[in-house]
Amino acid sequence: MSLLQMKDFARFYTGKKVLVTGHTGFKGSWLCIWLRELGAEVYGIALDPSTPRDNFGLSGIGEKMAADVRADIRDGARMQELFAEIQPEIVFHLAAQPLVRLSYEKPVETYETNVMGTVNILEAIRRTPSVRVAVMITTDKCYDNRETTRPYTETDPMGGYDPYSSSKGACELAIQSWRRSFFNPADYGVKHHVSLASARAGNVIGGGDWAQDRIIPDCIRALEGTGVIDIRSPHSVRPWQHVLEPLSGYLLLAMNMWHEPTKYCEGWNFGPEPSSVCTVWEVASELVRLYGKGSLRDISDPSAPHEAKLLMLDITKAKTRLNWAPRLNMQQCLDLVVDWYRRHTNGNVYDLCVEEVRLHSEIP
Ligand SMILES: NC(=O)c1ccc[n+]([C@@H]2O[C@H](COP(=O)([O-])OP(=O)(O)OC[C@H]3O[C@@H](n4cnc5c(N)ncnc54)[C@H](O)[C@@H]3O)[C@@H](O)[C@H]2O)c1
Repeated sequence: MSLLQMKDFARFYTGKKVLVTGHTGFKGSWLCIWLRELGAEVYGIALDPSTPRDNFGLSGIGEKMAADVRADIRDGARMQELFAEIQPEIVFHLAAQPLVRLSYEKPVETYETNVMGTVNILEAIRRTPSVRVAVMITTDKCYDNRETTRPYTETDPMGGYDPYSSSKGACELAIQSWRRSFFNPADYGVKHHVSLASARAGNVIGGGDWAQDRIIPDCIRALEGTGVIDIRSPHSVRPWQHVLEPLSGYLLLAMNMWHEPTKYCEGWNFGPEPSSVCTVWEVASELVRLYGKGSLRDISDPSAPHEAKLLMLDITKAKTRLNWAPRLNMQQCLDLVVDWYRRHTNGNVYDLCVEEVRLHSEIP
């Protein structure tokens, strides 16, 4: 993505009515900050933030939005009411139960939120004529993961071992079904005017994430305490990426869908370059080095619930058809992450996020 495209973003998003579900969460809060800086009228639907230290609360983005609505996406009727009130033009659907380990504890709730919540949003879109573009966020884990070294392309079969991953695979099937049944590109402009796509990102890291069982928040909590970081899956290989990378893909995709609605209404991978695919142990070690303190402890347990050990995304399609590419290498990504966690207690967090968005945008 070039600087020119960033200027196109501002030209495009200024004045657009954009609804973000999951705006109180990690990725959603960053997306709302970026959209606000681009001049969009930003609306959000989500539950309350998980902790007072979340990026959402610390940045104060809620007060800068057109509306910060707390509602449950499992309530389909309420979603239709809210869409009718807000009349969004563009929808980014991020609200979800996004944690693999929690999905083993709460499989039913995970399915209710992720699958039926997504179906409720699809139905709200169908009944709200103002919506022109919808980008539904799933995950790299939606693919049937054979744990081979071949990266997944958009046409690979859906699957998922654990309840979280399979719920996202099921979301993808629902999105595809709604696109074929109600938002079919062949009927665009005749029976409907909705362009519907899904976006699959890798393991996203960045400031303001305090979720349980994610490597960066786990490291930061440990560094604030004993300094000993327990690593459950040291050898697991993940496609790490800074939060601004997939968000730049979602923004670019939605803009393209708006201009050419039938050309881009598909599934898209927004993962990192192969050089950013590395083990959990490597990421945690680098974090310790950057902090200048702490140590790692391998606590891998063979009887722990299954988690994928190897997962890579092929991003050729986004590169060739959207002219999108990751901008940060692994080192730049971790530098930004550490910068946020170091500075979040002594400054204006909104400005800190905007500074990171600008830095990201200025990288050629
Ligand atoms: N963080 C990652 O590494 C990653 C990677 C790939 C995909 N994703 C996907 O990106 C999206 C955002 O993830 P995140 O890391 O920001 O998660 P998060 O847990 O920080 O945020 C989740 C958001 O969803 C909202 N939500 C949860 N249940 C809800 C419900 N029943 N009704 C309304 N809102 C509800 C929460 O309030 C919150 O705003 C999710 O769809 C996730 O599956 C995340």
